[in-house]
Amino acid sequence: MIPKETAQAIIETARIDEVVGEFVSLKKRGVNQIGLCPFHNEKTPSFNVNTAKNIFKCFGCGKGGDAVTFLMEHEHFTYPEALRYLAKKYGIPIQEQEQTPEMIQQMNEREGLFNVTEFAKNYFVDLLNNNDNGRAIGLSYFRERGFTPVTIEKFQLGYCLDEWENFSKTAITKGYNVDYLVKSGLSVRKDDGTLFDRFKGRMMFPIHNLSGRTIGFGGRTLITDKAKAAKYINSPESDIYSKSKVLYGLYFSKTAIVQQDACLLVEGYTDVISLHQAGVENVVATSGTALTTDQIKLIARYTKNIVMIYDSDDAGVKASTRGLDMILKEGLNVRIVMLPKGQDPDSFARSNSSTEVRKFIEENAIDFIRFKANLLLKEAAGDPIKKASLLKDIVNIIAIIPDEISRSVYTTECSRILDFPETVLISEINKILRTNFKKQFTDSSASSAAANIDLVETPVPSVEQPIDINEQIAAVEREIIRLLVNYHQSEIFITDAEGVQTTEKVNLAHYIFNVISNDELTFENPLYDLIFQMFSGSVEMENIPSLHHHENENIKQLAIDLMTFPHNISENWQDKGVVIKKEQDENKLSQIVWECLLVFHLYKLEKKIDEQREKLKTEINQENVLISMAKLKEHLDLRVKISNLLGRVVTK
Ligand code: UTP
Ligand code: MN
Repeated sequence: MIPKETAQAIIETARIDEVVGEFVSLKKRGVNQIGLCPFHNEKTPSFNVNTAKNIFKCFGCGKGGDAVTFLMEHEHFTYPEALRYLAKKYGIPIQEQEQTPEMIQQMNEREGLFNVTEFAKNYFVDLLNNNDNGRAIGLSYFRERGFTPVTIEKFQLGYCLDEWENFSKTAITKGYNVDYLVKSGLSVRKDDGTLFDRFKGRMMFPIHNLSGRTIGFGGRTLITDKAKAAKYINSPESDIYSKSKVLYGLYFSKTAIVQQDACLLVEGYTDVISLHQAGVENVVATSGTALTTDQIKLIARYTKNIVMIYDSDDAGVKASTRGLDMILKEGLNVRIVMLPKGQDPDSFARSNSSTEVRKFIEENAIDFIRFKANLLLKEAAGDPIKKASLLKDIVNIIAIIPDEISRSVYTTECSRILDFPETVLISEINKILRTNFKKQFTDSSASSAAANIDLVETPVPSVEQPIDINEQIAAVEREIIRLLVNYHQSEIFITDAEGVQTTEKVNLAHYIFNVISNDELTFENPLYDLIFQMFSGSVEMENIPSLHHHENENIKQLAIDLMTFPHNISENWQDKGVVIKKEQDENKLSQIVWECLLVFHLYKLEKKIDEQREKLKTEINQENVLISMAKLKEHLDLRVKISNLLGRVVTK
């Protein structure tokens, strides 16, 4: 832990121009400095460094902040990493805070482990290149696999001699601590206390952390008999190596991942290495473990786009399916590339030029809907039960995606590819979302919203917090459109002038049109107004437009949003006290519609009242003053009436 005061001192000492200047070439422009923004592509500089305020700001992409922000954004440092970088740059000593004896021991332990793995890595590299057996067995193996000397050196590949204790003994002779040798997994302690080499006779693949230090190893056997030896064994978990948080190759590929704004995901060490050698460098591997959320978050620091590359065998298909929903759940985009039969990324990269590899990936990367659809067409052709279960599968995955727009895009795509009615998909997704939404409430014990979800709350007028009336109006307008889009065919009960629900029924769309035209309410948001007009025109002719297929992208998106997520009404609107009720219930739906229209009317009145008051402030013509006052009085009376109907207290 870096103490607060030290952190403050670091931040104050750091000069923004000096920090940014290491990564961006800056020119003086007046009191500021200016350069090409490193966060987006541009030809004319809009990246400003303000030395007086000690901040940067790009007027092109909007990114801005201080030196720490810059390092976090540009170098993908964590906050403490950024502080440590600056401390080092400016020679500020960091007295780590509250170092308990356990913490000191743990830190020493980590350093001890790092020392051991660093030694081991160098030792294995040395054996590979300079030991007779190392060269004859190890080096020739890598060479036969097509790895060039440059590649072998870059990935620090090595060889562990096929002797029981060569490594352990050497390490101990050099003074390395036995405990660390065992904890790092490089040595295994036998019952009699003696050590042997875990990686005996294996090809060594060092695993690096983000700053390039070796934290563990993968070791490949040369024995082909599976029963005799596992093909790969890996270092065990330790204080410096947590499998679920590490991606093989990330240290070498992070720059390319950022530059290309995409991360290729493969399974194995050799896949990463061969792709690199072929010039495709934005690639990482999970290395034998199933993809974890931590690994996805790690990638998300560099890009939001993942492309999974797998063999087209069954295992490959299974492996890619596994990671899909996790990636989508984290809000990342994912595409899948299936390689030609019998190929893995390693062999494919070796038998094709880098241009061909890139081209193949670009042309064959498909989104998960198409991926699943392909499976469906292959496996479930003519089998309705299989088809249904695969569809359910896809719908479940779509519902996981946090972003509304992506969700609707996928819904449309799914409907198109599988030739399945979009409305049905939407209503299925809807159901899942509702269930999850409710779960969210019931899961958090502190929330009383769960208890109230089916009740009409008594609204509390917010006095201390003035709310923007235009925002309120926009929210109600959206809600009215949502009711129209979702329930235009429903019948609802008419509520009379006293606010009592009668038994007389009317079509919901007709009801809304009548009230809105009688009360002379107009929609302020042009998009909502347009949709309202489209509906009002077509309802008379019993010909409802299917908005979610509309050629206008804005209308289409809005319609899908409104259809797929009914709970997405504005927070302000919820604050006003109208809580989502079970809309399918016709009594409740009737009440919602009635309330909604009244609230709409009320907000429009509030706005008019404000306008009249403003007018009165500046009006000097006596006659006009009288007219305005009369109007104001009329509005105020109506407001009282509506408020009473809604059971509200008028505070103004
Ligand atoms: P593969 O069996 O596909 O190996 O396992 P590979 O990477 O293609 O290796 P070569 O080309 O045969 O040499 C993929 C990854 O799964 C992990 C390793 O990380 C490997 O790179 N693995 C595999 C293990 O951890 N243990 C094993 O026994 C096998
Ligand atoms: Mn392979």
